[in-house]
Amino acid sequence: MFPNNFLFLLFTLLSYVFPSLATADYLIGVGSYDSTGPAAGVNMMGYANLDQSTAGIHFRLRARAFIVAESSDGPRIAFVNLDAGMASQLVTIKVLERLSKRFGNLYNEDNVAISGTHTHAGPGGYMQYVVYSVTSLGFVPQSFDAIVTAIEMSIVQAHQNLKSGSIFINTGDLDNAGVNRSPSAYLFNPPDERARYPRDVDTLMTLLKFVDGTSGRSIGAFNWFATHGTSMSKDNTLISGDNKGAAARLFEDWFTSNTTNSTAFNSQDDINVLIESATAIKATGGQPCGKTTSQGFKVRKNGGGSGFVGAFCQSNVGDVSPNVLGAFCTDSGLPCDFNHSSCHGDDQLCVGRGPGYPDEIKSTKIIGERQFQKAVELFSSAKEQLTGKIDYRHVYLNFTNIQVSLPGGQTGKTCPAALGPGFAAGTTDGPGAFGFQQGDKKINEFWKQVRDFLKKPSDYQVDCQKPKPVLLSTGEMFFPYAWAPAIVPIQILRIGKLVILSVPGEFTTMSGRRLRESVKQTLISNGNGEFDNNTHIVIAGLTNTYSQYIATPEEYEQQRYEAASTLYGPHTLPAYIQEFKKLADAMAKGRKVVNKGPPPPDLSSVQWKLLQDPSGESPPAGVKFGDMKQDVSIPKSGFFSKGDKTSAVFWSPNPRYDLLTEGTYAVVEMLQEKRWVPAYDDDDFSLTFKWNVANGSTNGLASLEWEVPDTASNGVYRFRHFGSFKKTIASTTEYFTGASSAFTVS
Ligand SMILES: *[C@@H]1O[C@H](CO)[C@@H](O)[C@H](O)[C@H]1NC(C)=O
Ligand SMILES: *[C@@H]1O[C@H](CO)[C@@H](O)[C@H](O)[C@H]1NC(C)=O
Ligand SMILES: *[C@@H]1O[C@H](CO)[C@@H](O)[C@H](O)[C@H]1NC(C)=O
Ligand SMILES: *[C@@H]1O[C@H](CO)[C@@H](O)[C@H](O)[C@H]1NC(C)=O
Ligand SMILES: *[C@@H]1O[C@H](CO)[C@@H](O)[C@H](O)[C@H]1NC(C)=O
Ligand SMILES: *[C@@H]1O[C@H](CO)[C@@H](O)[C@H](O)[C@H]1NC(C)=O
Repeated sequence: MFPNNFLFLLFTLLSYVFPSLATADYLIGVGSYDSTGPAAGVNMMGYANLDQSTAGIHFRLRARAFIVAESSDGPRIAFVNLDAGMASQLVTIKVLERLSKRFGNLYNEDNVAISGTHTHAGPGGYMQYVVYSVTSLGFVPQSFDAIVTAIEMSIVQAHQNLKSGSIFINTGDLDNAGVNRSPSAYLFNPPDERARYPRDVDTLMTLLKFVDGTSGRSIGAFNWFATHGTSMSKDNTLISGDNKGAAARLFEDWFTSNTTNSTAFNSQDDINVLIESATAIKATGGQPCGKTTSQGFKVRKNGGGSGFVGAFCQSNVGDVSPNVLGAFCTDSGLPCDFNHSSCHGDDQLCVGRGPGYPDEIKSTKIIGERQFQKAVELFSSAKEQLTGKIDYRHVYLNFTNIQVSLPGGQTGKTCPAALGPGFAAGTTDGPGAFGFQQGDKKINEFWKQVRDFLKKPSDYQVDCQKPKPVLLSTGEMFFPYAWAPAIVPIQILRIGKLVILSVPGEFTTMSGRRLRESVKQTLISNGNGEFDNNTHIVIAGLTNTYSQYIATPEEYEQQRYEAASTLYGPHTLPAYIQEFKKLADAMAKGRKVVNKGPPPPDLSSVQWKLLQDPSGESPPAGVKFGDMKQDVSIPKSGFFSKGDKTSAVFWSPNPRYDLLTEGTYAVVEMLQEKRWVPAYDDDDFSLTFKWNVANGSTNGLASLEWEVPDTASNGVYRFRHFGSFKKTIASTTEYFTGASSAFTVS
């Protein structure tokens, strides 16, 4: 008995002195899956611009996940970074249902977080509340399914990859990737509070680095940093991960090319599969051969090829714009009105400029590159190892009427959701229509009548929301189903000294600071020394569901866009802080959450679906899909140089018949030893897939556009296009491919 007891005692003592000895290793897994939705004719989520529908792909969207477990039967958490405007309640519900079918209760609402990157360049129609699906003409099952499946698959991959490893954390400031787009509202916060911070935006990036325990190689890195996914404008029609998606691609490519010897592609095997299927299709005159096309056309997986997953997650992004040059009047070129972000009364003339102005794709790349560079720096120098418990708490709140204790013994309450006129004004990242201005505190008679036609707000609501004038009382609108959420989840995830706060919306900079500080204080004062001033608190924005903005009560006074979109009235932020402190207190004391709160509704059965799916088509007389409409035009010199642009146009049906998930619509192939080898696909920045309907007919055209990158090798190239169609809605899907003439890069 003695030696065992002695060793046990010694080990226990050691684990007090060196806590890392006991828990330095976790089980860690990462995963990544293509979530790109319909690339034609589906309204994009973010700007609520009716004219902004998808018409091609800048680069693909992905769900990137990590799972960390204390041990195979110990507590675990799963975190998903989703290239989408935001998380969606219905997506979360359906993902959890699918996970429960696969894994029982291993992954559930308590320990899974799904956080949107806030790109404004993804297809919409995947949300269940009316306000978020008006411009997409309701629910779009194809958008929804792509997202749900990608999240599910990313978690499945991460689960299957679980292996012993360690986690390092690092933080650093990134100064030039965000500016405050409502600085006048920020100035409403108390001077002594503002004096504690150098800037009116948070510049901190917090990065986790996951390292495999056996090989010592890194398998992934996730970081959190606040800046809007609005580098691509409200006029863009290409699906894009915006600056965070771009940063992730750059990071994964960097890791692959600089730490492994593999090429941009997975392996020679994958390339062979691609070539075989392409050849087979050609040999059978456009018919697919054997396996499904999506798999056959697979070019790239896990965004790189090394299996390394690099994710750029959103934080308290509410008032942070990536358009860092500031907002200017499009007519005069002068700065806009400070308080209203308008130009002689017109909000539509005041537009923010990114660092690549006037080229939005360049701005996207630059803001992506800045985040990528900072992440590489933090990744390469990460030394602080995370040790200690994995833990989590989750609760649903009915935000319609939360009693809030305010300083000085007063109480306040939250209200049913409502939007003010500043919401309709939009922001300098994407101005709204209808002549509203940010900071409007009055609604004219015309709009009052329009509003009352939709729903006259109750007197209770009007009073509760003050000083916000109620333009849309979304919390009181239920036709044809709920316009806004009443029930929202909040969640805390813990990995040792990292605490992640999952918030269901966009906290402004100062709101985020107040929430983080309150939670930190609560953890420290109730936690028996487990938490201290070195505990890292991170806000994961737009997580699990979406309820728009959370401004401070002071910012709420001015009623700019963020305040006008703070749904539950002036005490929204104090209510969040109060309820998060309860969760933090429970976590610090090791108590469970007793009252889990009212579950949110599943509105899938009542969704309106007004957008038509493509219902079958054939090519125009005399051509086949995949035939050239316009071949590559070779320059006089006879070759293309680095930086040149070249394109080819193919007869092509609507790309919605098959999303070619984990595959590609467009490839630039290179001739190598008499074989065509894929070199670039529609997930690459240099190659853009555009689809639209040919003018004057109902037939579609795919335009493949390639800007020869500086890193391209000299050689012979050609375009290849992949696609699919149905002749009628009842026909089976047929696949086709076509290639352009060869051209030279020199
Ligand atoms: C790899 O590292 C080199 C040197 O630091 C750099 O020039 C190159 O751009 C990196 N590759 C990628 C894909 O980032
Ligand atoms: C890459 O290949 C070179 C030469 O074959 C080898 O020395 C090096 O260790 C490899 N690097 C990695 C990261 O595998
Ligand atoms: C903005 O509004 C504040 C009051 O809220 C006022 O004091 C200030 O002068 C205004 N600034 C400008 C530039 O109009
Ligand atoms: C939320 O609270 C409001 C007001 O107290 C109540 O009318 C409503 O039924 C509650 N909703 C749920 C789902 O509990
Ligand atoms: C806690 O940490 C912050 C920054 O990490 C520092 O500014 C502050 O002085 C620290 N407070 C205490 C009490 O150590
Ligand atoms: C149709 O016409 C518009 C406007 O002239 C042009 O921008 C677009 O590229 C054309 N589409 C096709 C497929 O030719």
